Amino acid sequence: MARIIAGVASSHVPAIGAAIDNKQTGEPYWQRVFSGFEKSKQWMAETKPDVAIVVYNDHASAFSVEFVPTFALGCAGEFPPADEGWGPRPVPVVKGHPELAAHIAQSVILDEFDLTIVNKMEVDHGLTVPMNLLFGSPKEWPCPVIPLAVNVVLYPPPTGHRCYMLGRAIRKAVESYPEDLKVVIFGTGGMSHQISGPRAGLINSKFDKAYLDNLTKDPKKLTRMPHLEYMREAGAEGIEMVMWLVMRGALDDKVDEVYRFYTVPASNTAVGHIILENRKRGKAAGKRRTKSAPRIKRAAARVTNRDVVRGK
Ligand SMILES: [Fe+2]
Repeated sequence: MARIIAGVASSHVPAIGAAIDNKQTGEPYWQRVFSGFEKSKQWMAETKPDVAIVVYNDHASAFSVEFVPTFALGCAGEFPPADEGWGPRPVPVVKGHPELAAHIAQSVILDEFDLTIVNKMEVDHGLTVPMNLLFGSPKEWPCPVIPLAVNVVLYPPPTGHRCYMLGRAIRKAVESYPEDLKVVIFGTGGMSHQISGPRAGLINSKFDKAYLDNLTKDPKKLTRMPHLEYMREAGAEGIEMVMWLVMRGALDDKVDEVYRFYTVPASNTAVGHIILENRKRGKAAGKRRTKSAPRIKRAAARVTNRDVVRGK
């Protein structure tokens, strides 16, 4: 059967994508940000997922304000990079996994989550920036991707609890897929930031770090956080963090935090990143353990909380 082995959360700041595209990653300002993802790329290269599910939000690229689905699952065979005003990013076309995506759609919709099925969609920085941060800048992305777009741009977005429960349903769907696939799920967006209005530029590191702590240890506490608390503490765009709860809901209750990175700012946003592994992966995979499982364990041992990089 397929199984979700780990979850990754990462900010998806558009300026990070621009820094990559304009070859500015070695500049001191950006080096501070990109250095925090070096171990993550190493972890991903050793984990070698067969499929990635990337939970992100579209920024009026694929969906205009004329129609904004709350949850939209990408079931197409490929997803080209969107033109966000400066031409499409020079990144590979994202290849989908239509079979697993259709299976997830059936399972999750029959579990009463009303996903929108999307058979043609371009993907913007919300998806491609975290891909770069975890996979680098290859000529082709190393695994198929199933995009899950969540509405966090038009009120009302889904609650954190709804996102968490959707993650649970996605996990159930993945585990009922017969092919033996290793799946990593991404939650993207955040952390604290506000891009307009009197509080533009807001960053709340104390809130962000507590959020990261709870994401690992007490995600159910986060599921009870109302939208207003996100907006008050983390800024209007901080609501993107509800998407991290889809990722967290798809994991075990108890997980191993194998890496964390936090720095401020990147553009006008706090950058947060965490890697969580399912503890029972070894046991569950026991009889069918793949050749790569021991490598994942070693990667986890090397990348520990001691590697946490704290923001100023
Ligand atoms: Fe965003």
